[in-house]
Amino acid sequence: MWGACRWAVRGLRPLSTAARRTYAAGSQYQYILVEKRGERQNVGMIQLNRPKALNALCDGLMMELIQACESFDEDPGIGAIVITGSDKAFAAGADIKEMQSKSFQDCVNSNFLSNWGKVSEVKKPIIAAVNGFALGGGCELAMMCDIIYAGEKAQFGQPEILLATIPGGGGTQRLTKTVGKSLAMEMILTGERISAQEAKQAGLVSKIYPVEKLVEEAIQCGEKIAKNSGLIVSMAKEAVNGALELSLAEGNRLEKKLFHSTFATEDRKEGMSAFVAKRDANFKNQ
Ligand code: CAA
Repeated sequence: MWGACRWAVRGLRPLSTAARRTYAAGSQYQYILVEKRGERQNVGMIQLNRPKALNALCDGLMMELIQACESFDEDPGIGAIVITGSDKAFAAGADIKEMQSKSFQDCVNSNFLSNWGKVSEVKKPIIAAVNGFALGGGCELAMMCDIIYAGEKAQFGQPEILLATIPGGGGTQRLTKTVGKSLAMEMILTGERISAQEAKQAGLVSKIYPVEKLVEEAIQCGEKIAKNSGLIVSMAKEAVNGALELSLAEGNRLEKKLFHSTFATEDRKEGMSAFVAKRDANFKNQ
């Protein structure tokens, strides 16, 4: 059942034995696969798993994704989260078929897509490992993450204009702040995609890897983060995110407050004591 052929058809990579067991035993999730990865099982991995629709982000998938992110966020054994898709698609956007018949009133009354913002409220760092298409909501989901690694054949785009709508998951804001006005306008007004290489040049992506190595590299990045104090990592994440939301003066004030706060923690004492004593630090998230 779990042979190479089935994975090849779906364009997915085989999961570890543990994940297969969870899935076979009847996972609580329909649209995602969830497992713990890394030598210390301290990286939470979420794989979007709606291959026939190129991981289009239907309501059910987004609800599951948010639930999985929140449960990893609460799990003290997890230090970082990786979100990935298949080799063909990270995600091809919001589900157009689901959205097709919505009226203006439906959108306003349900505050359509407002729940997506919960991904960016997760305190632990999230790494997006993007192979294939990251379009529309898929690109926006990647940008809600903290680090984006791309496979060599990844493509990023905000093609909503071709459907006579505009990005609704933060794309006009995050893309512009990340790649600058000219490229963001070009992508959003023409609907054209950019390659992984162009995305790296524009600062959207931090690293590019061969397709088959991408997820492992993202997990290794997660393991490096997870070695540090989780308490301080979440402060660092908050401070960096402040740069996207606040003025320079406000951002510097936030940074200073968080920096000073690290001096109230056991982990800060441990980190500096370990350096001075030339030994490894033993962080306790306190
Ligand atoms: N929603 C629903 N279904 C989708 C989808 C989407 N966003 N993207 C792809 N699919 C479905 C297709 O309908 C198709 O299903 P069927 O087999 O049932 O027909 C299946 O996935 C495979 O897709 P294609 O046959 O089109 O595959 P392809 O390789 O020829 O093309 C693609 C791939 C270029 C990604 C193309 O599917 C495409 O352009 N998809 C739409 C991309 C898009 O417009 N995204 C933005 C959505 S709006 C949005 O995201 C708003 C927002 O800001 C949140």
